Amino acid sequence: MKLSTAVLLFLGILALVAGLPHTYDEKGSKVFRVVNTAQVENGLEKLQHLQVNENFDFWTRPNLKAATDIFVPPHRIEEFETYMKDNGFTYTVMIPDVGKLILQEKALNKQGPDMDWDNYQRYETILNFVDQSALSHSEIASVEEIGRTIENRPMIVIKIGTPVANKTKPAIFMDGGIHAREWISPALTTYFINQLVNNFTSYDDMLSQVDIYILPVANPDGYEYTHSNASGARMWRKNRRPDVSCPGVDLNRNFGYVWGGPGTSPNKCSEIYKGTQAFSEPESTAIRNFIQRKSIEGVNWRAYFAIHSYAQMWLVPWGWTYDFPQDYEDLVRFGNAGVAALTPVHGTRYDVGSVTELLSPGAGGSDDWAKGSGFFKYSQTVEVRDTGEYGFILPPSQIKDCALETWEAIRAIAKFLDEE
Ligand SMILES: *[C@@H]1O[C@H](CO)[C@@H](O)[C@H](O)[C@H]1NC(C)=O
Ligand SMILES: *[C@@H]1O[C@H](CO)[C@@H](O)[C@H](O)[C@H]1NC(C)=O
Ligand SMILES: *[C@@H]1O[C@H](CO)[C@@H](O)[C@H](O)[C@H]1NC(C)=O
Ligand SMILES: [Zn+2]
Repeated sequence: MKLSTAVLLFLGILALVAGLPHTYDEKGSKVFRVVNTAQVENGLEKLQHLQVNENFDFWTRPNLKAATDIFVPPHRIEEFETYMKDNGFTYTVMIPDVGKLILQEKALNKQGPDMDWDNYQRYETILNFVDQSALSHSEIASVEEIGRTIENRPMIVIKIGTPVANKTKPAIFMDGGIHAREWISPALTTYFINQLVNNFTSYDDMLSQVDIYILPVANPDGYEYTHSNASGARMWRKNRRPDVSCPGVDLNRNFGYVWGGPGTSPNKCSEIYKGTQAFSEPESTAIRNFIQRKSIEGVNWRAYFAIHSYAQMWLVPWGWTYDFPQDYEDLVRFGNAGVAALTPVHGTRYDVGSVTELLSPGAGGSDDWAKGSGFFKYSQTVEVRDTGEYGFILPPSQIKDCALETWEAIRAIAKFLDEE
């Protein structure tokens, strides 16, 4: 046996032991929709078992109210269907061939060097756009590097607002793209930046009502990986923490508030892997440090937005428990103010409620930390379009419609905070 053969054999055995979690092609992968969880005995727990213990990739969280979408690569379809049937689940095929959808998206998506909102752009294009925006409007905008990723990419926050004498303005923080495959999220955060900075004459009111801090891409390593040609890359969710068998930590399970609670996994191969400890990752740490430091400097944090897809839901804490925060009514009123401005734009409907009320637990998210740390009263995860027809592969032709309606929600929120 030649040495290279021995090495290959050894790697092959290693891969088998590790359960081959990511060595699939999207070709032939399906998204199944489970529709009767509430009627199945212990249905929620059974789905949670599939997610946490069997490492299936859930596109929507296990839940009793809506459907649950689960991505299944070809080599696990039989296993999945057997489990469904044995346990009395009813399911449909939501996306019959994920690979086909990805190829369609690739053909439509025209990239760089200039920023636009008809396509999903690369991180370098986004960075240049944000830097240029701030440079050309330094009276209202400034950019700060808040840290570096595992692969040494800069993480940048842009602050936008007009100084108002003798007033501590309420401040908003927004994280986009913490989950790599949710391409619509960085498209939205950059759209908001573009409106506020390059169309600022339309937003005099808003710019004096609030200061907005936007982190357009919280997981640039993961984002860039989803744009690569590696097998299975488009569906990447986590950061790019290196590992022999299963790289990546779910940054939205890595924040230090009830870290490791329900809806997280200690298994490296899981899509909801929480990491080795709270804030083990440079990306989540950079966000925490920035918010703490600004608070000490006197920034009046009021609202935290985590922009995700998909579900069309405006989710407020808690995400770690079924209990509600004491000021839950306030949070719902806040969410309703956003959605009341959003829906009239294109008729897109959003549900408002707590994470666990509408879905199920997922501890260690940035939203729970923002609230639990005491820095932000109004914390939310906004799950934007769609409701599963395309899921994470939302066609680029929907970017502007999605951006326009969510932008109206943000404007309404600025007004709400100002009047408070
Ligand atoms: C702002 O505060 C300064 C110093 O305390 C004071 O002189 C000034 O009159 C104030 N301006 C307004 C508009 O209240
Ligand atoms: C600028 O903002 C106004 C007010 O929201 C909007 O009507 C207009 O379309 C915006 N312009 C651009 C180029 O987006
Ligand atoms: C992916 O493949 C296409 C076509 O072969 C090529 O043009 C493109 O540069 C590749 N992208 C990356 C990131 O390697
Ligand atoms: Zn997400």
